[in-house]
Amino acid sequence: MLLTKYQLNKTLELQNRIVMAPMTRAATAADGVPTAEMVAYYARRAEAGLIITEGTLISEIAGGHGGVPGLFTEAQIAGWRAVTEAVHAQGGLIFSQIWHVGRVSHPDFLHGILPVGPSVSEMTGPINRARHLSFGQCRALLRDEINELIAQYAQAASHAIAAGFDGVELHGANGYLIDQFLHYDTNHREDEYGKTPENLARFALDIVRACIDAIGYERLSLRLSPGAYLNQINGDARDAMVFRYLLEKLSNMGLAYVHTGNFDDARRFPELEAKTMTEFMRQHYRGTLISCGGHSPSTALKAIQANEFDLLALGRPFIANPDLIARLKTGAPLKAYDVSMLNTLY
Ligand SMILES: Cc1cc2nc3c(=O)[nH]c(=O)nc-3n(C[C@H](O)[C@H](O)[C@H](O)COP(=O)(O)O)c2cc1C
Repeated sequence: MLLTKYQLNKTLELQNRIVMAPMTRAATAADGVPTAEMVAYYARRAEAGLIITEGTLISEIAGGHGGVPGLFTEAQIAGWRAVTEAVHAQGGLIFSQIWHVGRVSHPDFLHGILPVGPSVSEMTGPINRARHLSFGQCRALLRDEINELIAQYAQAASHAIAAGFDGVELHGANGYLIDQFLHYDTNHREDEYGKTPENLARFALDIVRACIDAIGYERLSLRLSPGAYLNQINGDARDAMVFRYLLEKLSNMGLAYVHTGNFDDARRFPELEAKTMTEFMRQHYRGTLISCGGHSPSTALKAIQANEFDLLALGRPFIANPDLIARLKTGAPLKAYDVSMLNTLY
């Protein structure tokens, strides 16, 4: 079943139900243009039912460390076109994950200006991929800046289609900008983007609607972390109401899929009525659900057979096994992931 085709919607058919999860590799030069090595890295994994790229910045001031690709210059679009052509030449499908980190940044990556978030807040400790720097305060986005950001997401989505991508995944997970709006811990706004579940979900839904206008609903998808677990966001009992509202709205929009943003799908969240993210999203979202986070093909097969989700995303196993699908087809064992594998782009 994992290796059989899956009809995502009218226009997209996956060769199998295994998705390569988005993974930042921080391998570009300062221009954020995908490199020839990245072309080969993605092409090597084209047998996946769908590849989701590493998080890709929507503007010059959307990032939180170096080496991250963008989709806001002509050169970046051309660089990504080489990636999509190479993946398509192997019969694969590829979505671009578009990204703004919000407060998870530092002035050194933002031409000296403070990181932004829904509200003023403070992160502490060293930055993972730039350990000589520490997180600090972010400032609250002004109303006009929110409008600009919504437009930038839509523009990056259009650029992704111009670069030949089959679709776009909005990075709404893992404590980055969209997720910061969705959690009470980081959103204390008093305007129409704060206070109530409907208002906390508004930024995500405004972006979804703007991107649908730009590229169509069948090409758009969204990654979410209803359970707070990364980048110093704490869960709040009210978060479940925000995600319930958001997922119900998204259920009527015909998106390609929604996707759990998670490293450990066995984890249960008190703020999600002690459910896992997958259980919670399955309960409230009617449409294709991709689950991710510590799965293996054999455990995921049982879960898909039990209708717990539709597609399996694997992250680290795809770093360790560029030929993951071929191995599953022949029954060859998978190589174990080791963090040292991040040192190269093989
Ligand atoms: C090196 C690395 C980079 C990652 N970068 C991203 C990213 O850019 N965007 C994202 O949504 N998730 C990112 N993740 C999370 C993965 O998509 C995935 O959720 C996580 O690895 C758990 O899946 P796994 O247990 O199959 O590896 C990253 C994970 C790793 C290991």
